Amino acid sequence: MKILGIETSCDETAAAVVEDGKRLLSNVVASSMDLHVQYGGVVPEIAARSHIEAITPVIEQALEQSSCSWDDIDAIAVTYGAGLGGCLLVGVMTARTLAITKKKPLYAINHVEAHVYVNFLTETALPGYALPQNQPVFPLLSLIVSGGHSQLVLFRDHFDYTLLGQTGDDAIGEAFDKVAKILGLPYPGGPSITKAAVDGDPYAFEFPKAKLAAKYDYSFSGPKTAVLRAVQKLCDKPHDFPSFKLTELLADAQKADVAASFQRIAVETVVDKTILAFEEFSPKSVVIGGGVAASPELRRQLADRLLIPIEYTDMKLCTDNGAMIATLACFKMQLGQPTADPYSLEIEPNLSM
Ligand code: KG4
Ligand code: ZN
Repeated sequence: MKILGIETSCDETAAAVVEDGKRLLSNVVASSMDLHVQYGGVVPEIAARSHIEAITPVIEQALEQSSCSWDDIDAIAVTYGAGLGGCLLVGVMTARTLAITKKKPLYAINHVEAHVYVNFLTETALPGYALPQNQPVFPLLSLIVSGGHSQLVLFRDHFDYTLLGQTGDDAIGEAFDKVAKILGLPYPGGPSITKAAVDGDPYAFEFPKAKLAAKYDYSFSGPKTAVLRAVQKLCDKPHDFPSFKLTELLADAQKADVAASFQRIAVETVVDKTILAFEEFSPKSVVIGGGVAASPELRRQLADRLLIPIEYTDMKLCTDNGAMIATLACFKMQLGQPTADPYSLEIEPNLSM
């Protein structure tokens, strides 16, 4: 079984072919990130226009790289939510058209669920991929941490899952991006904070961890405001002082201390909940998805505190890609889950787990 997966929910135009839910045959990603850097965040209209330009060549390359013709493809899968409306539309309309003209079944895929499923890929002949040796087993605890999502989900089996908790405000990656902005560090903020934190003292500041009523929910707005207040204090400026002028007043050593302290607290926040869920549900596997999986601090804290080891997939598969979409669709097809109607599938920008 070979499935073509298409992903356009944010700034990556991506397509990939996956076989039997475990073998990666191709993975092509065109990112419009370069166009967004100057604005300090993804501009939805620019991202959507980039998808229109990139989608056809990206799909053609994914087929070519996998040495598949359309005859070899058993189904098409596409992200229909969650994501940016204009961006999702490009992928969904493309997939609907292809499903009709190439006469293939169509699978509508939940983007966040797919971030979990990419961890089932264990084989590839493509160069430069380090994949897990073993597929995860159920019950499976998954932590999805990216610029758009921060969710903790327990899978009892395929398609039998519970959303345990999520952020009440910013996603963790988004919080990194905003704190980086306060410190005058370049976008995307995660890698910038990681870099700045290397020279900093993670205990220089004790930023607060939000306490929420729901056991597995968390929040990043409190710690983020605490960072702003700490920086204002360091610069000896009042709360109404323009925040973009603060960065010129900060020494590199101060930025490093704030970055390291925020990184420690933000990561601790999600790791605390992961450990709590691990103790309550005794999962056999734990997987991490999303761009923040790149964080060395996250990996260090999980390795320190979690009783079982985590097999991380390749970083190229932690960020948005078509392989995760195709992998989930393989399990849908194998287990007889319903297909989507190519004449009527709609996008769902606010789709939840
Ligand atoms: O999964 P992803 O590529 O896109 C979304 O679907 O959002 O995640 C991007 C996010 C950004 O917010 C970025 O700051 C964060 O992942 N990120 C990191 C690191 N590398 C990327 N966060 C913390 N530490 C990192 N090393
Ligand atoms: Zn994503």
